[in-house]
Amino acid sequence: MSRHVVGKARELPPGLSRSLWAGGRRVALFNCSGELFATDASCPHMGADLSNGTVSGDTLTCAWHHWQFNLRTGEGLTRGWACLKRHRLTREGENLILEISAAPSEADSAERIYPDEDISE
Ligand code: FES
Repeated sequence: MSRHVVGKARELPPGLSRSLWAGGRRVALFNCSGELFATDASCPHMGADLSNGTVSGDTLTCAWHHWQFNLRTGEGLTRGWACLKRHRLTREGENLILEISAAPSEADSAERIYPDEDISE
């Protein structure tokens, strides 16, 4: 695990999201009505930046092809195998603290391999 100060809490007000590089990963940060979430930023479908998606309740919808994910659990709602790697994002004083849960693996940078199913949605 690695720990990073990724900005000021006031820079991520409720309703906003953004992505950044930390600990060798591109990570998407979300403030959903004051609750903070962080996931790998790359959509498991075709790599869109998930911080450009929309959030409704716990559900994140990717901006490109509308695959959906549960921000709280990382569960893939459109494809069960398409889950998000979650990280811990907290406030510490005025700072935002990101704890990356694991170093990037070779699989993270490898070309995506899809199960044998239609992924065109
Ligand atoms: S890139 Fe996210 S749904 Fe296609």
